[in-house]
Amino acid sequence: MRPSPTLLVALLTAACDDYVPFPGDTDTTTPSDAVAEALALTGDPTAGATAFDDTCAVCHDPAGVEKRAGPALDPLIDATTTDESLVRTILEGTGSMPRQNVTAQECADIVAWLHQEFDG
Ligand code: HEC
Repeated sequence: MRPSPTLLVALLTAACDDYVPFPGDTDTTTPSDAVAEALALTGDPTAGATAFDDTCAVCHDPAGVEKRAGPALDPLIDATTTDESLVRTILEGTGSMPRQNVTAQECADIVAWLHQEFDG
């Protein structure tokens, strides 16, 4: 049996219920939309290094080692870390890490840079 469209809409609405935009955020896309958008883009690691410095370095040392407010990312990130898990961490947050206000392209760029720096 196929689920009815009404049921699907109800489930999707329930899943998005806790979505709270950033103050002043005019972008009404939910994090799950943004995850799909970021995953569809090709990241540029050079731009990602800059975006990481601007957005993430306050809590994560860019060399991956030093412990700041957030954990050292090397060796936390390695070749087995998927793009999706990184995109979700950035756009949805995890545990005590708040979700980050970056564009889909910035997110893809940061993920490309994280792989370049910390895989292997
Ligand atoms: C306000 C501080 C803060 C900022 C800014 C921040 N993080 Fe985090 N990050 C954390 C904390 C704290 C954790 C640990 C979360 C937990 O496990 O409770 C974390 C965890 C992570 C993890 C590991 C997730 C896991 O599944 O173990 C990754 C990867 C990560 N951050 C990447 C990033 C990236 C990339 C950015 C920038 C786009 C960023 N963080 C910005 C604080 C921050």
